[in-house]
Amino acid sequence: MNVLILGGGGVIGQKLGQALARRGHLRGQTITRLTLADVTDPAPVDGAETIRCDIADAASVAAAIPPDTDVIYLLAAIVSAHAEEDFDAGMSINMMGTLNVLERCRALGTCPVVVFSSSVAVYGGEVPDPIVDHTFLNPQTSYGTQKAIGELLVNDYSRKGMIDGRGFRLPTISVRPGKPNRAASSFMSSILREPLNGQEAICPVGPEFLHCYLSPRRCVENLIAGTEWQPEDLGMNRCMMMPGRMWSIAQVIQAMTAVAGPEPAKLIRWEPQADIQRIVNGWRFDLRPEKSIKLGLRADDSFEDNIRYYLEDDQPHA
Ligand SMILES: NC(=O)c1ccc[n+]([C@@H]2O[C@H](COP(=O)([O-])OP(=O)(O)OC[C@H]3O[C@@H](n4cnc5c(N)ncnc54)[C@H](O)[C@@H]3O)[C@@H](O)[C@H]2O)c1
Repeated sequence: MNVLILGGGGVIGQKLGQALARRGHLRGQTITRLTLADVTDPAPVDGAETIRCDIADAASVAAAIPPDTDVIYLLAAIVSAHAEEDFDAGMSINMMGTLNVLERCRALGTCPVVVFSSSVAVYGGEVPDPIVDHTFLNPQTSYGTQKAIGELLVNDYSRKGMIDGRGFRLPTISVRPGKPNRAASSFMSSILREPLNGQEAICPVGPEFLHCYLSPRRCVENLIAGTEWQPEDLGMNRCMMMPGRMWSIAQVIQAMTAVAGPEPAKLIRWEPQADIQRIVNGWRFDLRPEKSIKLGLRADDSFEDNIRYYLEDDQPHA
């Protein structure tokens, strides 16, 4: 079993690589090769090879996906605020990059499993609450639009037997390790991560702001579980929400205080930011991910768990 993670240098890609290397098997077979590919050299992971690949470049994609590739995780993307600021980059990486990967699979003719990372940013605008898996996609950002196009392509290439695709609309992954990124949701990790590390952070929305969250640990478990499914499990829409849970900013801060004491919350500065609010207020929050839950995926049991997972898995040690 030859497994490739495109976007393997990113937060989820690294954690997925580590989890697959530890696990050693997938879909009933031993993983004999595990490759992490990214536009810059991914950090090394024990048990995995690392290579460079720019998904916006078809030749680079062809070189990264040899004919014996069985499973491809397509995590490479630029995130929401970045794709909003740089339309051309969003189109060439998020949209054309996805097409390049699917076209390479089609050219191979081997029908590899492709696990596509979509986003709940495909939902928005004038659609009724609650949002269910089959609510029509009405993205209110270029990023969401590029992910929605990716979903349609994953479905069509699967229907044609060119890939065995499945796509997951990820909720916001928190607590995300590392540095803030250019996602509009970046503050949803930094208001926890920075204070847990003794640093100040800015919260650009009010304490009542509600959103859907999932820990990186559970996200990786869900991606692996979803890889195991057979085509008949998936039905006629291969793309679905990954479970998360709704919490307000006040609740996630309370969870941090419950786990780590009162000091971290004192490091949060409340400074409204109109550009961030404009994007995140377009996101919908009453999400009901029924299909993936029925198929066995799980959300975190509490936000305290998200905080504990960060402290166990990621907190930098002095
Ligand atoms: N983390 C979240 O909250 C969240 C939520 C919804 C969807 N997603 C999606 O999940 C996926 C992984 O997210 P993440 O949090 O690990 O993001 P990340 O930014 O940490 O990782 C994405 C990786 O893609 C790489 N990349 C960018 N352009 C590339 C290119 N042209 N060729 C190859 N690689 C390229 C980046 O270098 C980066 O390492 C992304 O597709 C993202 O859109 C994430």
